[in-house]
Amino acid sequence: MCGIVGYIGKRDAIPILMDGLKTLEYRGYDSAGLVGFKGEEVVFEKAVGRVANLDEKIDKHGGFSGNIGIAHTRWATHGGVTELNAHPHTGCNQNIFLVHNGIIENYQKIKDKLIETGHRFYSETDTEVLAHLIEELRDKDNILLEDAVRLALQKIKGTYGLVVVDKRNPYKMVIARNFSPLILGVGKDEFIVASDATAILRSTSSVIYLNDGEIAVLEPDKYRIFNIDNEQVDRTPEELDWDIETAKKGDFPHYMLKEIYEEPEAIKNSIRGRLDLENGKAVLGGLSSIKEDLSKIDRLHISACGTAYIAGLVGEYMIEEYAGVPVEVDYASEVRYRKPIFGKRDAMLTISQSGETADTLAALYEAKEKGILTLGIVNAVGSTISRETGAGVYQHIGPEIGVASTKSFVSQLSILALLTVYIGRKKGMSLVMGKRILDELSRIPEKMERLLKLNDGIKELANRYAGYNNFLYMGRKYNFPMALEGALKIKEIAYVHAEGYASGEMKHGPIALIDKNFPSLIICPQDSVYEKNISNIEEIKARGGIVIAIGTEGDDRIRNLVDDVIYIPKTLEMLTPILVSLPLHLFAYHVGVKKGYDVDKPRNLAKSVTVE
Ligand code: F6R
Repeated sequence: MCGIVGYIGKRDAIPILMDGLKTLEYRGYDSAGLVGFKGEEVVFEKAVGRVANLDEKIDKHGGFSGNIGIAHTRWATHGGVTELNAHPHTGCNQNIFLVHNGIIENYQKIKDKLIETGHRFYSETDTEVLAHLIEELRDKDNILLEDAVRLALQKIKGTYGLVVVDKRNPYKMVIARNFSPLILGVGKDEFIVASDATAILRSTSSVIYLNDGEIAVLEPDKYRIFNIDNEQVDRTPEELDWDIETAKKGDFPHYMLKEIYEEPEAIKNSIRGRLDLENGKAVLGGLSSIKEDLSKIDRLHISACGTAYIAGLVGEYMIEEYAGVPVEVDYASEVRYRKPIFGKRDAMLTISQSGETADTLAALYEAKEKGILTLGIVNAVGSTISRETGAGVYQHIGPEIGVASTKSFVSQLSILALLTVYIGRKKGMSLVMGKRILDELSRIPEKMERLLKLNDGIKELANRYAGYNNFLYMGRKYNFPMALEGALKIKEIAYVHAEGYASGEMKHGPIALIDKNFPSLIICPQDSVYEKNISNIEEIKARGGIVIAIGTEGDDRIRNLVDDVIYIPKTLEMLTPILVSLPLHLFAYHVGVKKGYDVDKPRNLAKSVTVE
């Protein structure tokens, strides 16, 4: 969603800001804008569409080289996609400029009052109100920019990642955060502020994660952090362990393909140092503070969105079968609206790649408010969810740039397998079973490497099937959630209507859809429900339907039943979803590419969904 970049220092700000905006493009946006100062001179441009359109406008300013500026990519919430609505926003006198992520809930009330005092508004956004309010407070009593920002924030209700500059003092920048990510990169005599660590990495790996309600005032060689009540806050920078190379596309045509190819490595990184094969135990240091309580839980609630939710469903099957703990999985967006029953000894696990998904965060707050144990599986270090959960497990897979979750999904599945062993061994899982699961998990990356060799075959298959407008994805038990994942991926990447179903449900409705124009993809490895899935395949074939199957290597029977088959290596039943992911992801990718879509940035989608 919306992205923020700000720079203050000794270097030329504009190339750094434009570079930052390009890095943030993957998050999804519809317009972009930038303001930079050099003394009294100002470059202020906005453009609808791609950052490249803004680049063209900025280019016209030729040699401009100021040392301070702010920039933004907008994903429309209040008001349409227009230049006027794009950020930065400014007040009546065009001195104060700001970029903002989040939502100002009481903006209309403040706007009405400001209009009464003579302010004139040009946009439909909630953000513009902030610019006028800060202008009003600063100019009326001639107070410092940081004081005006603090006083303005005391008056608003809502969420913000905010960066403010004033043309009259081009040596100062004020930033603030409340429930919307903002990271401060601390360089030598310079600061880079961004809503996403990837936009900072090129300049520095030394970062400060602002907490909610905190404000920082930045001058090229110093910074000061305080809270909304103007109390000083001490914070030292931390090292960000993400590698800049991971955020580059290299020789791959798309990030999505690169990240599918990184799936084996992602699993290695997520399980590294966490397998105690000798004792059949999972070593999850991030859970040590809650280890005793976790071993006593009565029930685990899993809350997440999209693909992370699907990972949670697979986790439900794993944990219930092998750790014997009842699990309930919810779309995070539903948790606060239904009335979930949390027992005293229940725990909530939130799963989120970005660690910033607003709905997942809201579910987490709901659980915290009810006083139950909370834990998380998160990729983005220092993200809000990672800091708000009581304990957790980091994915350690580096940035994921493609909008679709791919390497992140398999990493989450492998951590859920670890968590199953972690909880299971405290709940009576045998040493032998613990060893078996971990031993097989350690072999998964090598099996995934083998699966990557299928890329050309899956591409050819995808090209043949790219003309179909509908798909039915089906699977049972562990692979029912994988049917949902396959359908979700082809929907978002290739804009193909697809239904994900538990195979057993086929006869209760979806079978009516089957004809020669509605292919089914059935996930049918040789597991405990193999024969049941075979029956479903036969039923579809009897009705003239087309079937692609994902089966186990060496299964010749299935080859004779279906139209096309993709083979995966044999593994434990509970780990098959990890292997199944890769061909599902490749298939969706190749159908999307064949249809000519921008698979890294599917329409209307955002990488990090920071609004409800
Ligand atoms: C689908 C996809 C989304 C995300 C969802 C949650 O491919 O990427 O469904 O899984 O938006 O995002 P995180 O994991 O960042 O909370």
